[in-house]
Amino acid sequence: MTKRVLITSALPYANGPIHFGHISGAYLPADCFARYQRLKGADVLYLCGSDEHGVAITLSAEMAGRTPKQHIDIYHELIKDLFSKVNISFDHYSRTTWEQHAETTKQFFFDLLENGYIEERVTDQLFSEADNRFLADRYVVGTCPKCKFEAARGDECTSCGASYEATDLINPRSKLTNAPLSKKATKHWFLLFDKFKEQLQKWIKAKEWKPNVINFVSHYIDDLKPRAITRDSDWGIPVPLDGAEGKVFYVWFDAPIGYISAAKEWAEKKGDPDAWKPFWLDESTKLVNFIGKDNIPFHAIFFPAMVMGQNQPYKLVDDLPANEFLNLEGKQFSKSSGWTIDLEHFFKHFTADQIRYTMAANAPETSDSEFSWKDFQTRCNSELLGKYGNLANRTLTFLKRLDSKVPPQHELRSADKEFLENIKRLEGEISLSYASYHLRRASNLVMELCQLGNVYFDSKKPWKLIKDPKCQDELETTLNLCLYCLKVLALVSSPILPEAAQKLWVMLGQQGELAQLRWNTIIEEPMEPKTPLPQPEILFTKIEDPIIEEQLAKLKELSQAKDLPQIKELISFEDFGKIDLRIASIISAEKVKKSKKLLKIEVDLGSEKRTVVSGISEHYEPEDLVGKQVILVANLKPAKLMGIESQGMILAAHEGKMLKLPMVEGLAPGSSVS
Ligand code: 2FM
Ligand code: ZN
Repeated sequence: MTKRVLITSALPYANGPIHFGHISGAYLPADCFARYQRLKGADVLYLCGSDEHGVAITLSAEMAGRTPKQHIDIYHELIKDLFSKVNISFDHYSRTTWEQHAETTKQFFFDLLENGYIEERVTDQLFSEADNRFLADRYVVGTCPKCKFEAARGDECTSCGASYEATDLINPRSKLTNAPLSKKATKHWFLLFDKFKEQLQKWIKAKEWKPNVINFVSHYIDDLKPRAITRDSDWGIPVPLDGAEGKVFYVWFDAPIGYISAAKEWAEKKGDPDAWKPFWLDESTKLVNFIGKDNIPFHAIFFPAMVMGQNQPYKLVDDLPANEFLNLEGKQFSKSSGWTIDLEHFFKHFTADQIRYTMAANAPETSDSEFSWKDFQTRCNSELLGKYGNLANRTLTFLKRLDSKVPPQHELRSADKEFLENIKRLEGEISLSYASYHLRRASNLVMELCQLGNVYFDSKKPWKLIKDPKCQDELETTLNLCLYCLKVLALVSSPILPEAAQKLWVMLGQQGELAQLRWNTIIEEPMEPKTPLPQPEILFTKIEDPIIEEQLAKLKELSQAKDLPQIKELISFEDFGKIDLRIASIISAEKVKKSKKLLKIEVDLGSEKRTVVSGISEHYEPEDLVGKQVILVANLKPAKLMGIESQGMILAAHEGKMLKLPMVEGLAPGSSVS
């Protein structure tokens, strides 16, 4: 029976371009898996789409001066275009603003409501009289209830690291207009997730997911609480009840349902409206959700609970390959701080296969991993060109010295048999790696196969065999087997390198689209003697140093320009004079218990000693600070941080996430700074 596999990649928010960090986590691994399963003859449906509701969209649309609809229309197209540049082979790319998606969402809601899993509750939320609307925490700034930092975010304080509800902020204000906000009671619908605890625990127990996922999820389930699944907003799917005007579903309620809607839209577009059903309703289908690690609770707990509580026999996820993050040159990709790669520019210089291979070889499967330009250059030059391209090129150019046709295979010697056995072994291991989501291993083994071919070619020395008529048979066998090795290479590399593999396929005189053929048939069939071999082409080009240096310089330039905060508005000399800056000598320093960021520091100010709490624990070891002289704002009103009164603030300089304390030497404690 044909295996049916439903594959999804997390729906990206249509609120900005995506980058290689996203691609390497939830998209490339899924695409390679989908391509592999198709080759293996499975009935594959690979789905994705834009996530177009929620505060992430409205906020960035407002900041860009667009309506949410204008905003998502721009980014939906842009993201789709990028996926196609990277050759992601979705069977369908949908969007959550597709009208029918609202219908599936409502079906979930009504079923859950009727089944007693949804409850109406009234809570206080922040309301802007000026805008006549409730504001979600991402729209809110205010004074931190813990450290009194005045520009604290709606969900956490960037100064002391405290996290809280937006309603806990002192003097909450709108991030967009600075208008003051007040608390106002509002009605919402809560999904009683706690009612699913036992069912979820039992279901998770049987899963063979990564231990860290299982661990994380099990703890999370123990502590499940009801959560609001609606919001006050005019952007989203309206709650379909009387008295619910101005309420829409929370984006994480409707987004995962988008996986089902995407299948429905796919079926409708292909003119067979029921075609989605076997994928979502048949228990024998394997459902695999590819996601980044930040999406684990939604896919392993909240959405499964929603599926359990509604009435349709929708599938629950079978496998959840959750990947870590890919960083860029040691830091997280960040468009806002310019720490990213301009993709328009990228595809002018490089190919999809080059980036696909580099990302596969560095796939963030067990820990965060790294994209660096130098590594990219090495992988492209030494591996793709030096091993893969070299094997294809040397074999096929050599065959021009015969008659550019596949030579026959004669009696096999032990080295030939060993070569074939090793090809078979690697093919099996590569197949297993794809099937078990080990993309990094698959890409390493593909290179091993190239090396195997190169070593065999070198050891057989066809350039010598050709000179001796007695060695004709051995020469023909050698080249026939090298061609077979290349055929297997084209096949097993094609999930990662679809373009190069197809090119190689044609160069081997093979017919049709490799992606449409079957893995096992290709492996079983030897090279057919006398097949004409077309003129070989270059598979990969060399990446020269200057182009990599240019990319590195561009990255530095972009990030430097963007990292620098804007200069604040002018103040008078008098204003500045109000700040009393002093040299302080650090007497002792220790970590504040239960805090990741805070250090408790005793300083000597000459005339007195002070205690200061400073958020520098991730940047300095306490013992390294003792004896150092720093600059202290000595007349800042004391504030309590984690129960400790901080009597002043040590000046710190920031560059992105880097922090350094300006230090002086040899001045008496208490000396003034101006
Ligand atoms: O984290 C994100 O980017 C979400 N837009 C992912 C949604 S995945 C799915 F559930 F829709
Ligand atoms: Zn704070």
